[in-house]
Amino acid sequence: MLVNATRMLKKAHEGHYAVGQFNINNLEWTKAILLTAEELKSPVILGVSEGAAKYMGGFEVVAAMVKALDHSLGITVPVALHLDHGTYEGAKKCIEAGFTSIMFDGSHFPFEENLAKTTELVNLAHDKGLSIEAEVGAIGGTEDGVTADGEVADPAECKTIASLGVDFLAAGIGNIHGIYPTDWKGLHFDALEAISKATGGIPLVLHGGTGIPDDQIRHAIKDGMSKINVNTDCQLVFAQATIDYCAAGKANPTADNESKGYDPRKLLKPGFLAIQAKVKEKMELFGSVGKAE
Ligand code: 13P
Repeated sequence: MLVNATRMLKKAHEGHYAVGQFNINNLEWTKAILLTAEELKSPVILGVSEGAAKYMGGFEVVAAMVKALDHSLGITVPVALHLDHGTYEGAKKCIEAGFTSIMFDGSHFPFEENLAKTTELVNLAHDKGLSIEAEVGAIGGTEDGVTADGEVADPAECKTIASLGVDFLAAGIGNIHGIYPTDWKGLHFDALEAISKATGGIPLVLHGGTGIPDDQIRHAIKDGMSKINVNTDCQLVFAQATIDYCAAGKANPTADNESKGYDPRKLLKPGFLAIQAKVKEKMELFGSVGKAE
């Protein structure tokens, strides 16, 4: 069932667990994540970056695919289709295209501009029943080989943006996208505590979920992180499983390859299974198993 993410994250916040946002890139990823959520009776958020949406053919294609898969696979757990790090224009398009949730990432704008644009999008999203995530304190990451440390959000700015009626808030606490550098200092729990206190119970979002040690994930959930985003982890296991399959010669187009291992349905199967295993591992860690009512 496609729903917005407000209720599932409120419940997660109250119940001291987190709902995973797993990013999708194609049909196989979507199917793998939906089936795992159903098997584990876990709510789930499907994250779609603007780049991934473009790759899949556009926001409307993504919305139609996710709705149809959700229906045809008989998924009964709550599923939110969420724009990840949306631009102002992209967020508006997703509201029209049939997404059930959006993130507006205005963290790179001057704060006043972030506030103005977020306010407008909160109204547009809520008018149509969508949930909305805002961001304060840019999430770092590796771009063109340069790794930036994650910014730590200012609690006062978090409080101001939370008061606009956003449903959940991405607040940087030293987390970054992609693979963490070996000298990464870890999450800033003192900052998380201050942000949680300042924002008064709004579910918080931890981006860059790949590579954060399990004990830090548990600590972050305990202190108010109710949504955890994972993308790179699924990319890594999908790539490795596909590499292993090919390295074993299973995709070779020889005349005696009776099993026709180059058929995409076979070629992509190990990656599909690897994503299912990774999503299961994360849902168990986040505590969302059995939390779909
Ligand atoms: P990772 O790619 O580091 O898992 O981060 C995903 C994310 O935060 C998407 O918004």
